[in-house]
Amino acid sequence: MQPCPKFSCPSTLKSGPQVLSAGEPASSATVIPIPTINLLDVLGPSDGLSSVSDVAYMAFACIFPLEKTVLKDSRPAVKQEKQHTLEQQLVQIVESVRGPGPKGTPQQTVLEILGVEGVNHPKFMQERMMSEEWKWFNVETLSEDAIIFAFQLLYKHHTVFLRQHWLGVVAMQNPMDAWSINDIIYTLKPDLIIEAGTANGGSALMWASMLHLIGKGGRVVTLDMNRPEQISWVETRENPWDNPLWDQYVTFIQGSSTDPAIHKQVKDMADKAKMVLVLLDSSHEEDHVGLETGLYCPLASPGSYCIVQDTKMGRFNWHNPKNALQAFLASHPEFASDRTRELLFTDHPSGYLKRTG
Ligand SMILES: C[S@@+](CC[C@H](N)C(=O)[O-])C[C@H]1O[C@@H](n2cnc3c(N)ncnc32)[C@H](O)[C@@H]1O
Repeated sequence: MQPCPKFSCPSTLKSGPQVLSAGEPASSATVIPIPTINLLDVLGPSDGLSSVSDVAYMAFACIFPLEKTVLKDSRPAVKQEKQHTLEQQLVQIVESVRGPGPKGTPQQTVLEILGVEGVNHPKFMQERMMSEEWKWFNVETLSEDAIIFAFQLLYKHHTVFLRQHWLGVVAMQNPMDAWSINDIIYTLKPDLIIEAGTANGGSALMWASMLHLIGKGGRVVTLDMNRPEQISWVETRENPWDNPLWDQYVTFIQGSSTDPAIHKQVKDMADKAKMVLVLLDSSHEEDHVGLETGLYCPLASPGSYCIVQDTKMGRFNWHNPKNALQAFLASHPEFASDRTRELLFTDHPSGYLKRTG
C-alpha cells in the first residue's frame, strides 16, 4: 500500500523501522523504508494547516495506513520497539511543523495534539476503533471529524475533483454531496435549479440528467464569469453542449452572479417557477458568498434548499465561506442548516440550508 507516496518524513526517519517476521532472528530483519514526509511541502503554506491538530490529523492519515503494511509481528518486544518508532515519528512530524512542543510522553503528546474533547462522548464511544494500532496510542477513537478532514486533504491534494466526469464532462462535485443533491432534486422535483458556478458544465449536466430521469421537465440556469470552454485549468473529455440534455434542460448565462442585471434575469425565472432549488458553487470567498447568499438563497422556495458549497474551505486557511454562511443564517431565521443531508464525507458542512418558512 502506498498511502501517501508524495509525502516525505523528516530526514531522520528515512531509514525506517526494522520489520521482523514472526520467529525470525533479529539479524535477518528486513528494512522497509518509510517515505519521507514534509507536510508543508505537500500542502504548502497557502493551503495552510490551520492548527497543530490539523497537522496531527494528516500525520495520522499517513502513518496508520503505512503502519498496517509494516506491522506483521506481534511479539511484545518487537511491538514495543515499533510503537516507540511510530510515536517518535508522529511527534517529529508535528514538531517539524510547529517547532518543539512541550515535552511529555508520546502518548500525552498525541492526546494533547488531538485534543481529548469528545473522545468519551457516547456517540464516539460507540464508534470506537478497537484495532490494536489505535490502542497503542491510547487514543481509542479518532474523531469522525479528524478522519473526514484528513480525507479532504488527500482528496484535494490528489485533485480528484478534476478527474471526475459526468457524461464525459468534468463535474467537480464531491461524489457524496452529488448523491445527496441528486436525492434533493428527486425529492423536490424542482421546476428551476439555479447554479452559481458552471465551470465545465459537468454539474449542470448532472442536475439536468436528474430532471430528465424524473420526467417532469424543469430547467437548470447556470451562471459563470467564464464560458465552459474557457475553463483552461481543467481537462474535460467532452463539451456539455454536445449532449442533447444541455439544450433541453440548461440555460447558461455568462457573467458574475452578483451583477444586478444577471440577478434580475434569474429572479424573473424564479418568480415563474413553483419549486426552486439554489446551488452556490462559484467563488467561495467570504465576501462573495455573503453577497450571493443574500441575493440567491431567498429565491429558494419554502421547503427547498439553498446549498452553500465548499464551506469546508475555511479549514484550509483559505477562503472562509462559513463565516458568510453564519452571518446569513443569523439574519435569515427562515433558513436552517439541515445536517441530515450531509453524507458523512461532505464538502459543505452546515451548507445545506433548508428554507423552513
Ligand atoms: C468550483 S467551480 C464550479 C464547479 C462546478 N459547479 C462543478 O461542479 O463542476 C467555480 C466556478 O465559479 C466561477 N466564478 C467565480 N466567480 C464567479 C462569479 N462572481 N460569478 C459567477 N461565476 C464565478 C469560476 O469561473 C469557476 O468556473
